[in-house]
Amino acid sequence: MNFTKSQNIFERAQKVIPGGVNSPVRAFKGVGGTPPFIKKGQGPFIYDEDGNQYIDFVGSWGPLILGHAHPEVVDAVARVLSDGTSFGAPTEREVVLAEMIIDRVPSAEMVRLVNSGTEATMSAIRLARGVTGRDKIIKFDGCYHGHGDSFLIAAGSGAITFGMPNSPGVTTGTAKDTLVAKFNRIDTVNDIFQQHPDQIACVIVEPINGNVGCIPPEGSFLQELKTLCHINGALLILDEVMTGFRVARGGANELYNADADLLTFGKVIGGGFPIGAYGGKREFMEQVSPVGAIYQAGTLSGNPVAVTAGIETLKRLTPTAYLELERLGKLWEDGTQSAIDKDNLPLTIKRVGSMITLFFTDHDIRNLDDVNHCDFEAFKRYFHNMLDAGVYLAPSQYEAGFISLAHDDYLIQKTLEISAQSFAFLKDHQ
Ligand SMILES: Cc1ncc(COP(=O)(O)O)c(C=O)c1O
Repeated sequence: MNFTKSQNIFERAQKVIPGGVNSPVRAFKGVGGTPPFIKKGQGPFIYDEDGNQYIDFVGSWGPLILGHAHPEVVDAVARVLSDGTSFGAPTEREVVLAEMIIDRVPSAEMVRLVNSGTEATMSAIRLARGVTGRDKIIKFDGCYHGHGDSFLIAAGSGAITFGMPNSPGVTTGTAKDTLVAKFNRIDTVNDIFQQHPDQIACVIVEPINGNVGCIPPEGSFLQELKTLCHINGALLILDEVMTGFRVARGGANELYNADADLLTFGKVIGGGFPIGAYGGKREFMEQVSPVGAIYQAGTLSGNPVAVTAGIETLKRLTPTAYLELERLGKLWEDGTQSAIDKDNLPLTIKRVGSMITLFFTDHDIRNLDDVNHCDFEAFKRYFHNMLDAGVYLAPSQYEAGFISLAHDDYLIQKTLEISAQSFAFLKDHQ
């Protein structure tokens, strides 16, 4: 493949934007090489500045569950655009989107729209702290909740890809209030509650740890978490920014019967535009300003363009759509598992619905500790083999892939063939 134009733009970019990118993982540091600069997307494909076509399994890191430039979403957005881009005053569309979220997620009795997943999680822990009058929070090693200071402790995604799960610039005062447990290890949460009685405001968790690859919760992990929270007077916050409206109509909250106190959303609810939301039980949400005293605001919150794209996206996520996403995901998982079994390859595949990760290890994956033992060199080689053959995967072992409704059997089969060729080098290492 020719990357000349992307290389030239990347050189220019690095002079004016840190690392040449506006979000760290895009720089390809975890895998090396030049990131293709994307010119356009259509359905399941993206095209770079050099004209290369890729089957896209990143989908803008999750929002594009309908695929790129879905014609009806684009039309609806175009119509709204001509009526104005922002008012800083309430619009009916915001109410419609809030109603749609609440209808799908009964644990969210009220929601507040914000501009990103990061804002949603920051606002949710402020609310939990305000409600409980406590300072400390528990998060999980490798869970990523955006780049709010309180979350850049043992963080996943880009932070772990670059070996910086704890960012400089986070004050020791903030860091001391974030306590870190291990995903799928309820005993570690219990220990922290024992060590800090009456001090913990909330536990925040990605119900599926998608920011170190796709790791599902085991058994009744989420329910036990909720029980522990309530025994100890803390709130359970499910961070569904990635999983919300992706893994089920009601997200992971529905899939695992979690009934969280507070939930955070993003990605899919904006259909590719900047948005976030937090919601939860009415008794808590009514403590948010202007009804209650816990302050949170935003100039562009509830932006009509983003809200329209979200409404149009959610409308198309019918029960049949989730069955189709599950079917496509299973096709990929089963095809990969057969290839692994056939040659006894040191690979493990994990999937929930349309979220999927191929881990370069033959050990089971329960949490970040296990992912850290993957063969990262093998992942890099696989990643570049896939990219060169026209399949665009997340450029880090610590990330999940996303299937959209624009993908089909042919593209999954084609991806499986390319994938089998791309990890064939592992056989030589046996
Ligand atoms: C689970 C989770 N929470 C929060 C965020 C932050 O969202 P945003 O990047 O929109 O700020 C992300 C982003 O990937 C995420 O995956």
